[in-house]
Amino acid sequence: MCGITGYIGSKDSLRNSLDNLKKLEYRGYDSAGVLFYGDGGFKLERAVGKFENLDKKVASMKGVPGYAAIAHTRWATHGEPSEKNAHPHFDCKKKIYAVHNGIIENYRELKTKLEKAGHKFKSETDTEVLPHLIEWYLNKGEKDFFTAFTKALIEIRGAYSFLVVNVLEPKRIYFAKLGSPLVIGTNKGEHLIASDPTALAGVAKQVMYLEDGQRGYCEAEECVVVPKKPKPEDLLLTLEEAKKGKYPHFMLKEINEVPNILKAGLLGRLKADKGLVKLGGLDMMAKRLKGVKRLEIVACGTSYYASLIGELLIEELADLPVEVSIASEFRYKQNPLKRDTAYLFVSQSGETADTLAALRKVNDKKLLSLGLVNVIGSTIARETKAGVYNRAGAEIGVASTKAFLSQLSLFALVALYLAKNKNNENYKKLVKELEIIPEKIKKVLKKSEELKKLAVKYQEYNNFLYLGRGYNYPLALEGALKIKEIGYVHAEGYAAGEMKHGPIAMVDPSFPIVAIITKNRLYEKMMSNLEEIKARGGKILAIATEGDKLIKKVANDVIYVPATLEQFEPMVNVIPLQLFAYHFAVLRGYDVDKPRNLAKSVTVE
Ligand code: G6P
Repeated sequence: MCGITGYIGSKDSLRNSLDNLKKLEYRGYDSAGVLFYGDGGFKLERAVGKFENLDKKVASMKGVPGYAAIAHTRWATHGEPSEKNAHPHFDCKKKIYAVHNGIIENYRELKTKLEKAGHKFKSETDTEVLPHLIEWYLNKGEKDFFTAFTKALIEIRGAYSFLVVNVLEPKRIYFAKLGSPLVIGTNKGEHLIASDPTALAGVAKQVMYLEDGQRGYCEAEECVVVPKKPKPEDLLLTLEEAKKGKYPHFMLKEINEVPNILKAGLLGRLKADKGLVKLGGLDMMAKRLKGVKRLEIVACGTSYYASLIGELLIEELADLPVEVSIASEFRYKQNPLKRDTAYLFVSQSGETADTLAALRKVNDKKLLSLGLVNVIGSTIARETKAGVYNRAGAEIGVASTKAFLSQLSLFALVALYLAKNKNNENYKKLVKELEIIPEKIKKVLKKSEELKKLAVKYQEYNNFLYLGRGYNYPLALEGALKIKEIGYVHAEGYAAGEMKHGPIAMVDPSFPIVAIITKNRLYEKMMSNLEEIKARGGKILAIATEGDKLIKKVANDVIYVPATLEQFEPMVNVIPLQLFAYHFAVLRGYDVDKPRNLAKSVTVE
C-alpha cells in the first residue's frame, strides 16, 4: 500500500525521489504527489491515476540539489482518490508538508479540535491532521520545529511512517515511524528515505531500518535519530530484482524464477545425500522447540493458503498438532495463548498489519514467536524470536507467486527438520524428492503456451470452481484466489469431498471446474467427485499426472504435470494455476502486476 520516498543530497532531488518512488508502484496506489524545491522555492504537484500522470506534470522541472524532496503514492483509505486527497498534505500557511503511510485512528477527534481552533482542512484524509497539528503547536508558541513535531506525534493514535518538510528549513526532512516501515539509505553526501527497501535497490548500499517510536531528521550530510540511531546494514536487494528484464510482466518473470529460487532456498539447508536438513534460524531455538506440543501458524492471503499446506506437512511428517489462523481473526480472538505452543508468522512482505498485530499479541505474552518471511529486515522478521528467510528476492507482482512456492518449500524443510523419525524410508524419499522439485517445475513452466490456449478457450467465463483434496485442497483455494485477484472473476476453492454439501447444486456448463487431480492417495475419491460433476453437465479442466489416460474420459481439458510425492504436489501443481490466471487476465487486458484495488503489502488494517 502507499509508498513514500524522500531525497536530500547532492543530486536532483525531484528526479531521485520520483525514480525511487516509481520502484514502489507495485505496492498498489491510485494517486501520487511530490513536494520539491525547484526554481524559486518549493513546489507541490499531485496527480490522480498512474505515476506517469505525475511524471508528465514535472517533466520540465528540476529539483535543486541540497534541498528536500518528499514523494508519495497513495492507496485511498480516507477519501476517494483525487488530487486534493493525494499527498503531500499541508497546514494553513503552506509551510509544513507531510506524506504518510498508515492510519491515524483518532483523526476525527483531532480534526474537530483543530477546526475549532480555526484550522481549514483541504482534504478528506486522516494525514492532513499532522501538518495542522504541528502548526497548532507552533502557533501556541513552540519555537522548535522538532519539538512541535514530537508533541504532535504524541497526540496521534494509529500507525504511521511520516516524512515532513518545514519550508523554513528547506535542507532537512523530518521523519517518524510507528507501525509502518521506514528505511533510510545512507550514501556519502546524501540520504534517501523510503517506506520499502525496494525503492532504494541499486541506489543505496547501506540502509538503517527504523524501529517503532524512532523519529528524527536528515540533511545531506547528517541524520539524527532519537532515541537511538540504528546501525546501517548492507542492502542486499539488487536493481535487477526490481526490473522486468525480458518478460512483459513481473508476474511472469517471477513465476519463471521459481526453480532458481527454490534451489537458493534449499542451498546449505538440505543435504539430500546425507538425509540432513539444517535450518540455522531454528537451531538457535532447538532447546525450546523440543518442549513445544503444538504449533499455531498465523498469516493472510496467499501466505495463509501456503500455511494450510504447511499444516498438513508438519502434522504428517513431524507428528505435531498444527492450527492455522487468519491474522485478522487471530488478533481479536479471545484464544488461550500457551507456553507449550510455538507461534509461526508467515508473511512475504513481513509488514502485513494484521500479521504484525497478531505477532505482537504473542510477544506481549512472552511466548515463542517464529517467522517465515521473505523480506530481509522487515518488521515481522525483526520482531519474531527466530525464523527462516525465504530467499525469494523481491516480489513485485502484487499477486504472490514465487513467494508462495518458496513458502511451500520452506514448509517442507521445516516439516522435515521437525520430523521425529529421520531414519525411515519415507523421510529419505522425501528429502531426495525435495531436491529435484525445481527440475520438475522447470518442465511445467514449458507449458505456458498450452495454458495460454486454455485461457483463450475459457476467457468468456465469469465463474470458476477450483477443487482439490488433501494437499491439493488448500491449493484449490489459492488457485481461485489468483484468478480473483488478477482476472476479476468470481472463483471459489472447495474441498472436492464437500461438493455434495452444497456446491454441486451450482454445476452447469457455464461454471467451469478446475480440478487438481494428480495421482495420490485420494485420486480415486477425486475421480468419483469429477464423475458426479460430469454427469451433471459440468465442464472440467484438470491438472493431472503425466501418463494418466483415465482423466481424459472425464475432463474436457487436461494439463499434465510430472509425478512427484503427494506431499510436494502443490509445488508442481500450482504452476499451471498461476499461469492460467496470468494468461486469462492478460487476455482480458488487465494490469496483472498491479491489479485494481489491491496492494502488495497491506500495512493498514
Ligand atoms: C496482500 C498481497 C497478497 C499477500 C497478502 C499477505 O493481499 O496482495 O499477495 O498474499 O497481502 O501478504 P504477506 O506479505 O503478509 O504475505
